[in-house]
Amino acid sequence: MKPLIHKLLLKSMLAVSLCGMISYAAATKIEVYKSPKCKCCAKWVDHMRANGFTVETKNIGNKEARKRAGIRPSLGSCHTSLVEGYAIEGHVPANDIKRLLKERPSAIGLAAPGMPKGSPGMESSRPNPYNVLLINKEGSVSVYNRHLPSDKNKSVMRLK
Ligand code: CU
Ligand code: CU
Repeated sequence: MKPLIHKLLLKSMLAVSLCGMISYAAATKIEVYKSPKCKCCAKWVDHMRANGFTVETKNIGNKEARKRAGIRPSLGSCHTSLVEGYAIEGHVPANDIKRLLKERPSAIGLAAPGMPKGSPGMESSRPNPYNVLLINKEGSVSVYNRHLPSDKNKSVMRLK
């Protein structure tokens, strides 16, 4: 093999393996069970991808997945996701999921019951406050994070 070609080959091999390492370290895989028709689910998937998650969608609805995860219907929303042993119900912001994966509490996961206006994928000109709930193993819930319509403005003001 000619030295130059050899050198180029080595370089590209190195680049490929480096890329592989970086994506392996950064991307957390999340499985999303959703309806193929629902637009807000697709928008939430976009939100998760924009926040660095690798999303695998299962367009078969979420009722079975929710039941299997042990989430009761009253906490339900339009999609159920599985990430690193946790279940995520509905339009939970990516930052809350990142916090969950960092803190790793003993729990089933998180839920944003219903379809809160103003949550990721449910963008609205009239957003409502909503709670993200932590679902404990026995099924009881506690408030994990509270989102107010003014949160965005506040964080922008803090940045200035
Ligand atoms: Cu939805
Ligand atoms: Cu949806």
